[in-house]
Amino acid sequence: MVTRRWPEEVEQALLGSYDAVLNLHDRPFDPAELQHALETADAVLPTVTDAVTAEVLGGGRLRVRILGNLGVGFSHIDIDAARARGLVVTNTPGVLTDCTADLAMTLILMVARRAGEGERHLRAGEWQGWRPTHLLGTRVTGKVLGLVGFGRIARAVAHRAHFGFGMQIRFYSPSAPEAGLAESLHAVRCDSADQIFGQSDFVSLHCPGGAATRHLVDAGRLALMQPHAFLVNTARGEVVDTAALIEALRAGRIAGAALDVYEGEPAVPEALRALDNVVLLPHLGSATRESRVAMGMRVLENLDDFFGGREPRDRVA
Ligand code: 8YV
Repeated sequence: MVTRRWPEEVEQALLGSYDAVLNLHDRPFDPAELQHALETADAVLPTVTDAVTAEVLGGGRLRVRILGNLGVGFSHIDIDAARARGLVVTNTPGVLTDCTADLAMTLILMVARRAGEGERHLRAGEWQGWRPTHLLGTRVTGKVLGLVGFGRIARAVAHRAHFGFGMQIRFYSPSAPEAGLAESLHAVRCDSADQIFGQSDFVSLHCPGGAATRHLVDAGRLALMQPHAFLVNTARGEVVDTAALIEALRAGRIAGAALDVYEGEPAVPEALRALDNVVLLPHLGSATRESRVAMGMRVLENLDDFFGGREPRDRVA
C-alpha cells in the first residue's frame, strides 16, 4: 500500500514486483485509512504526511509486517509502537543528501541576500530601477555557519559552505564524528548547542526530529543568537518553537529565518507568512526528480530484501 503518488517509474517498478495498491488521488490518508492499510497490506509505504501514531498502530489485527518509509526522517512514525507490534521499519538515507544540502544552501543564500523579498517586489511591479541602497542584504562568504547535528546532510552542507563560500564551520553533535572527518571539512566541534547559537552568523538545523529534539530551538536559544544572525531549518518543524521564533523575528532579536519544514505542516502561521525577513519553502529538501526516484527505488530495495529473507539495509526498527 503506497500512501501517496510516487514518480511514475518507481510506481511501475512497484507494480512489476508486488501486488501494489497506489493512491491515484494523492490525497493524504486519514487515520482510519492508514489503519485500514495496516490491517490489509503486508507492506505499507508511508511518507512524512502520514502520522503513524501509537493509536493508529494500536488498532485491531495488523497484517502489515514492514513500513518502508519514503524519506530519511521518520519522526512521523512512532518507532516504539511499531517495534512493539513487531514491525520492521526502513528509511532512505544517503540518496537525498546532496539535494537537501543544496536546498539548505539555497535557504542560506536566499535569506541573506533577500531573494524572496526581491522577487516579490519585482513581481508586484514595484521595482523602480537600480539604486545603491536597494534591498541590501548580508554577505555570506567567510561567515560563521553553525550546524546543529553532523550527520550526512550537515556534512554535505559544511562541504558546500566551506569550499564554495569560504564559511567557517562550527558544529554540535552529541556523538563524536569519525576521526579526521571534521578536520577534512575544516569544521570545529563545539561542546554544546548553546555555543552554536551564540557564535554563529547562520545556524542551520540538521538533527533528527521527534521527542528528543522537540523545541530544541526555544526562546532561550533564540535569545543566545546574535541580532544579525539567521536561523535555517531543513530538518523537522518540531525542532523549532514556532511561536518563540515569530516573537524573536518580530522583536528584531534575530535578523531572519529560512524554513523548509513546519510544526503542523502544511499549516504555516499567518504571523510567519506576514514577515518579510523570512524565507518559506514548502518542504522541498529532497524535491528533485533524481532524489525522489532514488528514494523510491531504495524503498523497493528494502522491500525486496525483507520479502527475500534478507536484512533490509536501511532498517531503523
Ligand atoms: C521527504 C524529508 O521528502 O527525507 C526526509 O526526511 O524530509 C524529505 O526529503 C519527506 O520526508 C518524504 O517523506
